[in-house]
Amino acid sequence: MALLPIIETPDPLLRRISKPVEAVDDDLRKLIADMFDTMYAAPGIGLAAIQVGVPKRVLVIDLQEPEEEGGDPVRDPRVFINPEILEASDTFQVYSEGCLSVPDQYAEVERPDRVRARWLDEKGDTHEEELDGLLGICLQHEMDHLEGILFIDHLSRLKRDMVLKKLAKSRKELAKRAA
Ligand code: NI
Repeated sequence: MALLPIIETPDPLLRRISKPVEAVDDDLRKLIADMFDTMYAAPGIGLAAIQVGVPKRVLVIDLQEPEEEGGDPVRDPRVFINPEILEASDTFQVYSEGCLSVPDQYAEVERPDRVRARWLDEKGDTHEEELDGLLGICLQHEMDHLEGILFIDHLSRLKRDMVLKKLAKSRKELAKRAA
């Protein structure tokens, strides 16, 4: 198990466009395992490789949704390699999103509420599925990372500035506490 450092905004690496994966091999599977460890430890429900500084089109997602309300989280790890969106609904949903690279900040983002996507899994097998609900939102959020886009880029300038101000303030407080 290895925890990788998560890079945070405004690190310019987060603005890079990630490259397609050419071979699904053991090196990639090692990266994926480390990404899961890092995401669970954070804790978070999704992580793109660029968030640990690797500009490859790889995402891991685990919504860890309990089987029943109030129950224990159940792990459901999902890997998306070279994901593509084939079709998006013209109906939208709004969800309060957060991001491990914009720590502890949340804001409402509107996205298509259903997407048909295609991707490879960690064995190199192709999947094509329609995703909705939180999984659909999470996939779209993580796929934005592959294009160098953060959820705050979807906000109005005013709201984005507010989020960044709050982030700066919470970092200052953390630094004070650590001093
Ligand atoms: Ni994110």
